[in-house]
Amino acid sequence: MGKLRIAVLTGAGVSAESGLGTYRDNGGLWDNYDPMEVASIDGWYRNRKLVLDFYNMQRARLKDVLPNDAHRMIASLEDRADVSVITQNVDNLHERAGSTKVIHLHGEVTKVRPESGVYDDSFSEREVFDIGYEDVNLGDKAPNGSQLRPHIVFFGEAVPKLEKAVEEVEKADIVLIVGTSLQVYPAASLYRYARPDARIYIIDPADVPLREPRIVHIKDVATSGMRKFLEELSK
Ligand code: APR
Repeated sequence: MGKLRIAVLTGAGVSAESGLGTYRDNGGLWDNYDPMEVASIDGWYRNRKLVLDFYNMQRARLKDVLPNDAHRMIASLEDRADVSVITQNVDNLHERAGSTKVIHLHGEVTKVRPESGVYDDSFSEREVFDIGYEDVNLGDKAPNGSQLRPHIVFFGEAVPKLEKAVEEVEKADIVLIVGTSLQVYPAASLYRYARPDARIYIIDPADVPLREPRIVHIKDVATSGMRKFLEELSK
């Protein structure tokens, strides 16, 4: 029996207590911005500046926030288990809290890459680079001469890391879902790949669409929910 394997699927709720907004709660990002304008591939081709400004703002905000105890407790799981964090978040808080294996399904806001091709998921990881918390503006070009764009999976684009994420969930003894409304596919369907004998937990203060009776819902915010999960794990 090797080390326990845990797949942690996180969404914006895990970063809420760091002060970063979620998307669909009251006052969330999508209450103030139309995702089809600022976070879709068609929005990008319609108005690159609007999209660049939206992510410049997200990136600047990230500079001022810190990981919270939930990120730290998720990172601490690595002391006792083989952990894969599969996040829909584009922030870098899991890494800054110490998680060493993080799959960003929807990209990373501190990274950019050249825009290329008609539908823009044809790129190589070699072209991606980290700009930290700096702005990217119209006219900022990549070495290949094309406009730099956020390394974000826009609505309407493929999710290149999905297959890797599925593999991690299929290997897991425990699937832990933290702070996602499970409304955006394919990320929302990932937990369905859990093995029949795997345990599934979800930490969320709200009622979430549980589609399987075996899912244990820890109805709490991420920090205190994670404390309860750790207690459960120690039993
Ligand atoms: N602790 C834990 N969960 C919380 C907290 C908290 N403090 N506050 C809110 N939540 C929960 C909400 O109840 C909700 O279920 O976090 C979830 C946030 O849901 P969304 O705002 O929809 O965020 P998310 O599920 O990550 O969105 C998925 O949508 O727009 C796209 O690409 C974007 O990655 C994002 C994706």
